[in-house]
Amino acid sequence: MKGLFVSFEGTEGSGKTSIIRQVSGHFSQMGIQVVATREPGGIRISEMIRDIVLGKANTEMDPRTEALLFAASRRQHLVEKIIPALTRGDMVLCDRFVDSSLVYQGIARKLGFDEVLQINQFAIQNIFPDLTILIDVRPEVGLSRVFNSPGREVNRMDLETIAFYNTIYNGYKTLLKKFPHRMISIDGEGEIEEVAQAVIAKIETILAGRK
Ligand code: TYD
Repeated sequence: MKGLFVSFEGTEGSGKTSIIRQVSGHFSQMGIQVVATREPGGIRISEMIRDIVLGKANTEMDPRTEALLFAASRRQHLVEKIIPALTRGDMVLCDRFVDSSLVYQGIARKLGFDEVLQINQFAIQNIFPDLTILIDVRPEVGLSRVFNSPGREVNRMDLETIAFYNTIYNGYKTLLKKFPHRMISIDGEGEIEEVAQAVIAKIETILAGRK
């Protein structure tokens, strides 16, 4: 596929959404077709699955159900939105992708990295991002941003304990070592503009290498 597939990962409150908005604006202004999207969600069916999987009332949800729902949402979003965009040659900026499941469900929920990778391989058929950017913000910094920003949606995952988020944070560090060919980390604790600039610079290097 001709397009460039970039996914963004990070703990709660890492600023991914604002960063993606700025990066998207930058490349759109350069005349590049950009599709900015998010998981779980991005299209109708996946947004419906999102409501189930993140619904605060669904406290009885089994971890394997959770993992399967994230994978199902991912599949539909990939087929309906990401693959067509990449086939057209667009740049896809996706807020979370398979690495979120590997870390949240595989490591933090203790379902096993390999098991979660396996169900996700069924869903993604080996379509991994060209580049995955981990926005590195320590959990205590991220969580204080979440709880101090008025109007932000607090979901079922936000209600986990600090220990859970530390596990997520360390899980991402493990993933960086497992996938060094596609995954990089960018310091996300500075101003959003600075972080976005660092992301833009990285993507520009990749685009230059493709010409
Ligand atoms: P969201 O409101 O999009 O949060 P964020 O801004 O942190 O991305 O919520 C997504 C939540 O779902 C987040 O807590 C991470 C979790 N998640 C998983 O546990 N597994 C997954 O595969 C995905 C995509 C998300």
